[in-house]
Amino acid sequence: MLTAEANTLRISTMAESLIGSEIIKLANEVNELIRRGEKIYNFTIGDFDPAVFPIPHLLTDLIIKAYKDEQTNYPAANGMPVLRTAVSHFVSRTKQLDYLPEEVLITSGSRPAIYATFKTLLDPEDVVIYPSPSWNNNHYCHLSLAKGVMIETQPEQFFMPDASLLEPHLKNARMIAFCSPLNPTGTVFSKKQLESICDLVLQENERRKGTEKPLYVMYDQVYSSLLFEGTKHYNPVSLRSAMRDYTIFINGISKSFAATGVRVGWAYGPKYIINRMAAILSHVGAWAPKAEQIAVASFLENTKSVDTYLEQFKDEIYKRLKAFHDAFVNLKLKGYNVDCIAPQGAIYLTVKFDLTGKKTAEGKTLQNQGEVTSYLLKKATLAVVPFSAFGASQNSPWYRISVGTCTGENQIKEVMVKLEAALSELS
Ligand SMILES: Cc1ncc(COP(=O)(O)O)c(C=O)c1O
Repeated sequence: MLTAEANTLRISTMAESLIGSEIIKLANEVNELIRRGEKIYNFTIGDFDPAVFPIPHLLTDLIIKAYKDEQTNYPAANGMPVLRTAVSHFVSRTKQLDYLPEEVLITSGSRPAIYATFKTLLDPEDVVIYPSPSWNNNHYCHLSLAKGVMIETQPEQFFMPDASLLEPHLKNARMIAFCSPLNPTGTVFSKKQLESICDLVLQENERRKGTEKPLYVMYDQVYSSLLFEGTKHYNPVSLRSAMRDYTIFINGISKSFAATGVRVGWAYGPKYIINRMAAILSHVGAWAPKAEQIAVASFLENTKSVDTYLEQFKDEIYKRLKAFHDAFVNLKLKGYNVDCIAPQGAIYLTVKFDLTGKKTAEGKTLQNQGEVTSYLLKKATLAVVPFSAFGASQNSPWYRISVGTCTGENQIKEVMVKLEAALSELS
């Protein structure tokens, strides 16, 4: 049903039917409660509190210096050569992959790189396969008029897709959108899982050779610098070199260096595709600011500063995720209907609140997962995002806790006391 204004000001069907981010909607509701004076433990948003997690000091200094050096005119459309070179070195050092600077595109955060990948590879109605839960693929499909096919994943596989789930859909697909470590779950692809998928993609592309457009993989690894306790990150090209022709990588500084507001991201892949992505974005103008690009280039080349920052940053993130995880394991042992998956990467923890059908102290039955989310918010003052906001079914009992704004273990203790009290009231 269109509003009166929308009825008069008719716009494109795509824009009219575009829905906003479900996570931002929830975060806004939570912020409204906070504004009204309620104390809420808000672990919804995949962002950082800069007072808890500042960007590297060296990066701040380099950005200020670049502005003082008047690096304020247009950057090169595909990114400043110094940054493309620094990214090429960073990729070689951290992922053992060889990509030349001309195979790298710099964008204003990772989002434009994702958008450009969709716009470059897909025609309207082309099929994109992506797992659910996952982050925002539905919106990128909508923007590029593609058809999304969601593959529902299971907790037993840590919510990562197996080849067998994808296989029935590959024949008609143009692209698969993957992310590892995954937002919202904080889990990663195992080597075996990803190898089997690469083998399927290569087999499918062998079948298509010369007759149909290839099947591509967009591989988003924005959280790949944040891995814990011996967890390994795998990528399609390291596992199967022939995947190089079909893989577009997405990365950036937003999550690795707590720099979500600095807006520097990148893509790398086959040069022809990267050039077409740059051409699309040159009209959008989604470049990272020139001063930030020059600063990030110097920062990334300072490998000692990068490694020192990451070590300490990862340690702080992991401490929080582990404290939450241990607390949930403890609640489960006490017999509450909760569960949790051990953290592997990113800034997220997967937890389960299996509480539908339970009765509150006021005698009201929690009828559905939406009521469970509300109960947690009102009684435990805990705000977390249900997996339904990432494409899982409305009755999925799984949730994402994000620790980017968590002040530390004391705060976790406080909220877990409230949570246990709220759970103990249910019968
Ligand atoms: C998986 C994933 N990719 C990309 C992004 C976008 O990052 P950026 O802030 O660099 O645009 C996010 C942000 O939450 C994300 O979770």
